[in-house]
This record gives sequence, structure tokens and C-alpha cells, in this order.
Amino acid sequence: MTIATLATLVLTGCAKNPDAEMDKFIDALMKKMTLEEKAGQLELPAGLGTAVTGEFQSGDAMGPLRQGLVGGFLNIMSMEQMRELQRVAVEESPNKIPLIFGMDVIHGFQTTFPIPLGMTASWNPEAVERASRIAAIEASASGICWTYSPMVDISHDPRWGRVAEGVGEDPYLGGLMGAAMVRGYQGDGSYDDPSYIMSCVKHYALYGAAEGGRDYNTVDMSKNRMYNEYFGPYKATVEAGVGSVMASFNEINGTPAHANGWLMNDVLRDEWGFDGFVVTDYTGIMELGPHGLGDERTVTKRAIEAGIDFDMVSGYFVKYLPELVRAGEVDEALVDQACRRMLEAKYKLGLFEDPYRFFDDARAEQVIFTEEHQAEARRVATESFVLLKNEDNTLPLAKRGTIAVVGPLADAPREMLGPWSLRGGVGVSVVDGIREAVEGKAKVVYAPGSKVTLNNVVARNYGASGAGIQAMTVDPSTLNNDAMVREAVRVSRSADVIVAVVGETAGMSGESASRSEIDMPDAQKILLRELKKLGKPMVMVLFNGRAMSIVEEDAAMDAILDVWFPGSMAGHAVADVLFGDVNPSGKLPSTFPRTVGQLPMAYNHKNTGRPLPEGAWYTKFRSNYMDVVNEPLYPFGYGLSYTTFEYGDLTLSAAEMSADQAIIAKVTVTNTGKVAGEEVVQLYLRDLVGTITRPVKELKGFEKIALAPGESKTVEFTIDNEMLSFYNDDLQFGSEPGEFSVMVGTNSRDVKAQNFFLK
Ligand code: BGC
Repeated sequence: MTIATLATLVLTGCAKNPDAEMDKFIDALMKKMTLEEKAGQLELPAGLGTAVTGEFQSGDAMGPLRQGLVGGFLNIMSMEQMRELQRVAVEESPNKIPLIFGMDVIHGFQTTFPIPLGMTASWNPEAVERASRIAAIEASASGICWTYSPMVDISHDPRWGRVAEGVGEDPYLGGLMGAAMVRGYQGDGSYDDPSYIMSCVKHYALYGAAEGGRDYNTVDMSKNRMYNEYFGPYKATVEAGVGSVMASFNEINGTPAHANGWLMNDVLRDEWGFDGFVVTDYTGIMELGPHGLGDERTVTKRAIEAGIDFDMVSGYFVKYLPELVRAGEVDEALVDQACRRMLEAKYKLGLFEDPYRFFDDARAEQVIFTEEHQAEARRVATESFVLLKNEDNTLPLAKRGTIAVVGPLADAPREMLGPWSLRGGVGVSVVDGIREAVEGKAKVVYAPGSKVTLNNVVARNYGASGAGIQAMTVDPSTLNNDAMVREAVRVSRSADVIVAVVGETAGMSGESASRSEIDMPDAQKILLRELKKLGKPMVMVLFNGRAMSIVEEDAAMDAILDVWFPGSMAGHAVADVLFGDVNPSGKLPSTFPRTVGQLPMAYNHKNTGRPLPEGAWYTKFRSNYMDVVNEPLYPFGYGLSYTTFEYGDLTLSAAEMSADQAIIAKVTVTNTGKVAGEEVVQLYLRDLVGTITRPVKELKGFEKIALAPGESKTVEFTIDNEMLSFYNDDLQFGSEPGEFSVMVGTNSRDVKAQNFFLK
């Protein structure tokens, strides 16, 4: 029994213990199961056709299923196929145990929301919770009861393509977003209502710290850093009650996560109290071989002993565990424990009561891609956009005159969804969204403008790992980039303003999509330079799955709107913001570097013994570069609005506090512009003296406020001991007396500061 259930029992006066009924049911069931059948519950093959490996390579899923040797399936696209598999499991397998069906429902099911990095840029956990709720409502009617989301791998390196799937660089913001997603998918975790599904936090742990930003690469990190900077979001999702955890591909302190008992048993289960099951990542156990841990039998033993429960695709648990137990090499209790955890998950999901409760054609018909869901996707998308530059109020645009919409992403409906969209349809293209918004009021001219990149080999790589890139539906080598640019220039000559829709295609971020350069691809750079020569106002609408280094574009463009990958309603959402029907309020969840050479980079870095004096560039024998400043292009938390906000003085309720007290920090923010807007007021803290070094600032709170023109609001932050605490050299969590700096502002750079003492 977990501490949490014990607490519930005490609180409810031990009236009823649902766990006791579950335990009784599972005890009885497991008594009937053979060792093979128990190992069978740990088997999770993929249903992605060609990607299927192991037992199911032959395509015959039914044989092992009838023998009770399968626990569930992942990423099967057809509801009919899933229904049939479930029927065989509950009618023809020895113990009639239902299957669990998982899928990567990452940012929506059919109604597609912005990529998670974009949703994080909304700094609105309620909106993210609603988006996840909608994803659960749609998926749960289609046979899916388990999603591989949220992904909360903190990363300081946008070369890593998977930052698109994550929650940015900050553990506090990331934890809030991860927990919001868990609540959205799981509700209260009772699954009484079949429109909730089980969530799976991933990739535990530290996957975002892959060396050089190269996917699947080695991670090497101090425990200090793990606990203080990287573990937080995983822990936050455990506290939110996440039902399952996925192990990461990387190693942690020399031992891959899939064989890391310290990570799974000591930290996750014992320290954090996680009581769900741990699933491997795709072929995670198999990959322990190439990692160098040994042959198939050896790595199977390592994985089960490390606390891994569910074997995604490797097929090793079902193949080797029975013989390893019989040979006395693996303790049978470990197999029992993993099997029990899987049966518990199925029990909690209500699958024993009704194995088909997530197959509901009538509900699917009613709830999938409804107008209401689309409207919410459009709203969340607008909230995810970050206005990076807006010289002379170029934006919002007037709905009049001639608007040139150019660029390879302007008419690319499939690209709008971004990476990881298995069930999403196509999105509304930007040019269509703009056309609809200005119909009868302004003229729209369009040209694709350029290829994605001049390098045809790289272009194919970009296409290979993602959804069908529009420019890829034709062979890129057959396109004449010069002619495309000329056409765009010709078309734009008649325009009053140019909207350049450029950046990354969906396939350029996500899994196995690392880039060594993160600037604008060459072909699009050329297009922007040529268009700029026309001397017209230029707005860049930037598509991206990562922070990019866009120094040249920042200097050249009049306005830049970062829209990430907005999802199903992309074009409408972009038009909403371009024409000022919605005022942008997103803030960067990830630092934009000036050059890839500055990476890894994050706002919450350490000071070092030789910090560069503020505002300085290069100084000999200081921590800096000779050829670039230390500052990023845009800092974490940055984002403009169509209005302006003025911050009053920051005041603290006291100059000192003790650990059992709190200090209130107050600031009054005024909308000094002409339109209503929303501002994210951010609180950062710095522990000035510690027994170990502490970051120069850490986000500890924020509030998103709406202000009418001329309106002021006073925002209060309560600073308590927990916010001052960190993991010390002995990994004990607590605060240390001394001076602290409180910083409040519109982003992580532009802050007002006051100090206080912790007694
Ligand atoms: C990815 C996971 C994903 C899994 C199942 C893996 O390759 O790393 O994030 O959930 O596949 O599709």
C-alpha cells in the first residue's frame, strides 16, 4: 500500500478500501496464471506495420495473443483491428485478460493543438489542461486508453529535435505544464468516466541533455544538476498522479535508464512514491545490447531487476523471463510484481469490467473534431504565438490593400500540425486563413517563394522523419529555386506588405531530427534577402519546433511572429493574430541563441568564478567568447504584445523572514498602450550565497493577467521557504539562511530586483 492510499484510508475512516478489492481480484487472477502468461502481460508490441519487430514481425499477432502472451499494443491506427484484438484477448486467451491500447497522443488526437513547446509558450496551464482533456475525449472514444504524454525532458540544447515535444528549458514551468497535461488526460485518476485515459510521463530521465543535441546520445550529469534542474518536471507529474512512466533511451551516470535500478526504484518509487508501472521506450531493452550491457538474456535480467515492467517492442521479457526464473537467475517475485502492476493499471482503467469501454462509435461520431474542439484549438494556438519583434507597430496588419503571402510554409496544410501527429488531419494553411480573414476587404497574392533548403539531400532527410512535407511531394531537385524567388519578388512588387511564412517543416524537429545548424535554411534566407530589397514592410511568420538562431532575420524584418506548429487551425489562428483580432501573449519557453556555438544555453545558468560584467562583450580572462556576446538573441520568458506594459516599483513586505514565514513581493503593472492585452508577470529568485553554487536566477512563479488600456493590476507573489529550497551536496532539500534576490519582470532579462534575508 502506498503512503497516499494509507492517507486516504485514514481520512475516510477506513470505510472502504478500493485497493483491497483490486488486490483480491488480482491475487485470484494471478493464482491461475502460468509463469509464461505472467511474462506475457509484460509484452507490448507495436502495431505500426513495417516498424513491428520481435514476435510480431511475421504479422501474426493472433497466435501469441491466443496463448495469453501479449499485454497490450501501441499505435494501432484502426479501431476495428484493435476491437478484434481485444475480442481475441478476452474470449480466446487462457485468462481472458483485456489488452491495454496505447498511442502517442502528443498534442491532440484528431483536433490538433500546437506542439507541446508551443503550448508551453502560452504560459497558461489551464489552457494546456483543456487541450489534453480534449485529446483524451477524442482518443478514448477510439479505442485508446493510454497516451505517451507528457514529455517533460528539460533541454538546454535546441539542436535536439525533440525539444518540440517538450516543455522547454525551465523545470518549474515544465513541471506545471506536465502536471496540467496529466490532469487533462486522467482527470482525478479514477477513470469512472471513460473519456479519461491514462497518461505516461516520458522520457525518464534526462533525455533532453543528450550531448551535442544529437538524439539518443550519451548524457553525463551530476546528481546536483539532476535534482535541481532536470528531475523537477518528472516529479511534478508523479505528484499529479501520473499512471505510468516511460524510461529514456540515454544512460544516466553510466547505466542506461532501462537498466538503472537507482533511477527507477530508489528515486522514482521510493523517494517520489510512484506506484504505477514503468514502460520501456521503443526497443529500449533490446538497445541495452548496443549500449554494451550484454546479450539478450543478460539485458532482460538487468531490465526486470531495474524495475522495468512493460516491454515495448523488444519482445525479450516474454521470450526470456520464464527461462531466467526457472534457471534461478531472476527472482520470480520480480515477474509477479511487474505483472501485478500491469493488471492494476488495467483494473483501474475499468478494462476488466468492460474491455470495450473505450470503443464507442457513437461517442466517436459525436466528439471527434467538433466545432467546439476546433475553436479551442484555434484559441490555444493564438495563445502560443510569441511576438519576437514589432518595429513601428508593423503588426497588427490592416485588412486592406494588397498583402503578399510568400514562403514554402504559406500553403503547406500538412506541415501545420508539426511533428508527432498520428491521427491529425491536415491543418488550415496560412494563406487560406489570411484569405478568409480579409475576404472582400483586401487582396491576397501568393507565391511559394523558395524550396525549404537548397541541399536536396538534406531536404530529403527533413522529409524522411516527419509528415509529408508539401515541398517534398515533388522531388526537390526538380525545383528551380532562382525562378521561385523571382516569382515571389514579382508577386510582392504590387503588395503593401509582405508576409513571409518561413522556417522549419514538421520533419525538421521531433524524434531523430537533430540539426547541427539551427538558423534559417539557406533557400529561405535567400528569399528573405531578395524580398527585403523591395523596401516594403516585412512580417516574418516563423514556423519552428525549436529555438532558432535568426540574428539576420531579426535585424532585417519589421515584425516577427513565432507560431511554432499551431495545429489544425493554424491558418485561422495566424490570421487572428496578424490582423489584431487576438493580441499575442506568448512568452518563450526556451532561450533563442545568437549562434549554435553558444549552446547549450539556458537562462538559469551559474555565475562562474569569472563572470562577464553585465553589458560587457569580450573581456580577457572572463567566461565569454571572443566572437559573440554571452547574451542570447531573445531571452527565456520574452515576448511582446500589441500594447505596452509598464512595471511599477517592486516592493517586499519585509526585509527578512525566517523559514516558517513568508514575504510578499508586489508589483503594479499598467497597460500603457491603446489595446487590451495579456501579460505574463514573472517572478525569479536568486540565492546569493550557498554551500553549493546556485543559478543566477530561477523562475519561481508567474501570473498571466489581462489588462484593458490604461488599466493597472497589482500582482502579489508569496515567497515561502519551499521556494528558497534546493538540493544540497547531500541531496537534502532545504533552504539556507542568507541573502536572496527577488526579481520580477516581463521576461528573464528585464526585471526589477529587491533583496531580503532568510534568517
Ligand atoms: C519515442 C517515444 C514514443 C515511442 C512510441 C519512441 O521512439 O521515443 O517518445 O512514445 O516511440 O511511439
